[in-house]
Amino acid sequence: MATGRRKIAVIGAGNVGATCAFVLAQMKVADIVLLDIFEGFAKGKALDMSQNSNVLNYDGTITGTASYEDIAGSDVIVVTSGFPRKPGMTREDLIGKNAEIVQQVGTGIREHAPDAIIIMVTNPLDLMTYHMQKVTGFPLNRVIGQAGVLDSARMAHFIALELNCAEEDVSPMVLGGHGDTMVPLPRYTTVGGIPITQLMSEDRIEAISARTAGGGGEIVKLLERGSAFYAPGSAAAIMAEAVLNDRRRVIPASCHLTGQYGLEDVYIGVPCIIGANGVEKIFELDLSADELESLQGSANFYKGQLKEILGY
Ligand code: NAI
Ligand code: 2OP
Repeated sequence: MATGRRKIAVIGAGNVGATCAFVLAQMKVADIVLLDIFEGFAKGKALDMSQNSNVLNYDGTITGTASYEDIAGSDVIVVTSGFPRKPGMTREDLIGKNAEIVQQVGTGIREHAPDAIIIMVTNPLDLMTYHMQKVTGFPLNRVIGQAGVLDSARMAHFIALELNCAEEDVSPMVLGGHGDTMVPLPRYTTVGGIPITQLMSEDRIEAISARTAGGGGEIVKLLERGSAFYAPGSAAAIMAEAVLNDRRRVIPASCHLTGQYGLEDVYIGVPCIIGANGVEKIFELDLSADELESLQGSANFYKGQLKEILGY
């Protein structure tokens, strides 16, 4: 059905993709196309969500497909296709299989939606975002990775639990790669405008930072058959909405660096403005020597993997 609404494609109709589509549907911002290699899986979920329109009162269309022709004209594309972790696996263990999937999906996007802005979710996030930019050849600002919104949300939750305060009053900041090397930044994390360094002991901040860095693994261990998807799907949805409505949200996201923080030609989590052109601006924070070393260490870990495993 043709409508006058804007269009978002979500590639991968699994746990994260379907959650992202469901959240976007409730935002009422666009028509949604859900694409999966398994056509029936995408169609079934799209039909189920469409039938929910009457219950939850959203009015955009939601269609399922396995065909890239159906993503033509998409303003934003969220890529969630790929294998998730199982207990005992790191995100980096997924590189081989997921790089092939990103190659296939990126080729489809390049051909059928050459003007779209891509929000990557597939793990290992920072590497797959780099890979997607290379496969599509899209401008650097039009390929962004989702990780910082999720990792920061995890940190915010643990802080709210600790202080017994409202989640919405916590403004967290987590930079670096989406993996064990991520860099929670307590100095830039505030609650109601107060730095958490004034509200909690160093020990508690360290414990919260460590739990944040292991946040994905904690859920993988509990689920035993996959990884987190409610918060990841919602995080990708808010990024898609920020682009679609030119919200100019200030959030951490995996961006391509060209000299910022002393780093070049790598995707890594940094604070930025997300708007109609994707990454509108990257902020360079005044980091302490230790914080900078952690961020550079995280980026250099991924640079090594880009070269050794993906051959970039
Ligand atoms: P899932 O297994 O539930 O869904 C993945 C979907 O991708 C499946 O429906 C599968 O059929 C589809 N797929 C596989 N190959 C495809 C192809 N070539 N073309 C189109 N579709 C294809 O997995 P889940 O839980 O949704 O996770 C998806 C990815 O997102 C994983 O790589 C996971 O590690 C990653 N992830 C990343 C997060 C982040 O913060 N960046 C957070 C959570 C998950
Ligand atoms: C997460 O952080 C596995 O990347 C996924 O939950």
